[in-house]
Amino acid sequence: MELVARTPSEEDIALAAAIPKRRTDRRRFTSWPVPRGHLDLMVDRAAEAGALLIPVVGQLTRLRLTTAIDQAALRQQEDPEYQAEIAGWSGRGRLAEDGVMAGSAQPAGRVHGDTAMRTFSGGTLPDARTARDEPDGGQLLVVATLADNPTAILRAGEAASIALLTATGRGMATCPLSQPFEIADTRAIRDEVLDGAAHPHLILRTGWLPVSTPPPPRSPRRQLMDTVDHMPAAWPPRPR
Ligand SMILES: Cc1cc2nc3c(=O)[nH]c(=O)nc-3n(C[C@H](O)[C@H](O)[C@H](O)COP(=O)(O)O)c2cc1C
Repeated sequence: MELVARTPSEEDIALAAAIPKRRTDRRRFTSWPVPRGHLDLMVDRAAEAGALLIPVVGQLTRLRLTTAIDQAALRQQEDPEYQAEIAGWSGRGRLAEDGVMAGSAQPAGRVHGDTAMRTFSGGTLPDARTARDEPDGGQLLVVATLADNPTAILRAGEAASIALLTATGRGMATCPLSQPFEIADTRAIRDEVLDGAAHPHLILRTGWLPVSTPPPPRSPRRQLMDTVDHMPAAWPPRPR
C-alpha cells in the first residue's frame, strides 16, 4: 500500500490546533443555544469524513433519545460486571497513565436538564457557575452511518473526532455519550430516533460553558507506541 502525503489544508490546520484544547467536558452548560451555523459546519465535516451527524431537534425525538440513555444507564447500574469495570478504570489520581481521573468526572448521578451523564467512580469535578435556575442548553447529535460494517464504524469514529474538534475550535464544550450503544439492544435509537434510516454509533453533547471557565484537567494518555504500530508493509520506510 502506497502512503501518499498531502499538503494540509487550512481546515486541517485549524482542526489540529483544536486537538490540545479538546476535553471531554461532563459539566452543566449554560442556556446559550448552539448556533445553527456551528451545527451545519459539524454536520458538513462529519459528512466529508463519511458519516451522518444528526442534530436531535424536536421534543419527542429528544425525549426518545434521552429515555434510551436513561434505560441504558439503569441496566448498567444493575450489572455488577459493568460496575466493577467502571470502578477499575475511573476515579484515578493525577499521576494516572490512563483511565478517567476523579477530577475529570462529576459526582454520581448528574443529570443536565434531560440528559443523564455517565457515573464514574469518585468524580469530583464541580459544575461551573451558571445563572440561578438557568436551563442547560446542551445540544445532542447522533453519529450514524447508512451501512453497518467495520468500515462504517471506522468512518463514524473519524466523523465523531472531526465533529468534536470542530465544536472545540468554535469554543464549545463537548461530551461523547455512548451508554445506549453498550447494551445489546440499540433498536430504540435506530427506529424511534432515526426512523430506521441509519445505524447509530455515538451521541455527542455540545454547548457553552460560562465565559472564562477553566477547562477540566487534561486526561492521561498512554505512550503512542502502546496503542499504534507500523503497518508491516510500510515499515521500515523504503529509501527514496
Ligand atoms: C467512543 C467514545 C465513547 C465515550 N462515551 C462516553 C460516555 O458515555 N460518557 C462520558 O462521560 N464520556 C465518554 N467518552 C469520553 C471518554 O471517557 C474520554 O474521551 C476519555 O476519558 C479521555 O478524556 P478526554 O476526551 O478529555 O481526552 C467517550 C469517548 C469515546 C471516544
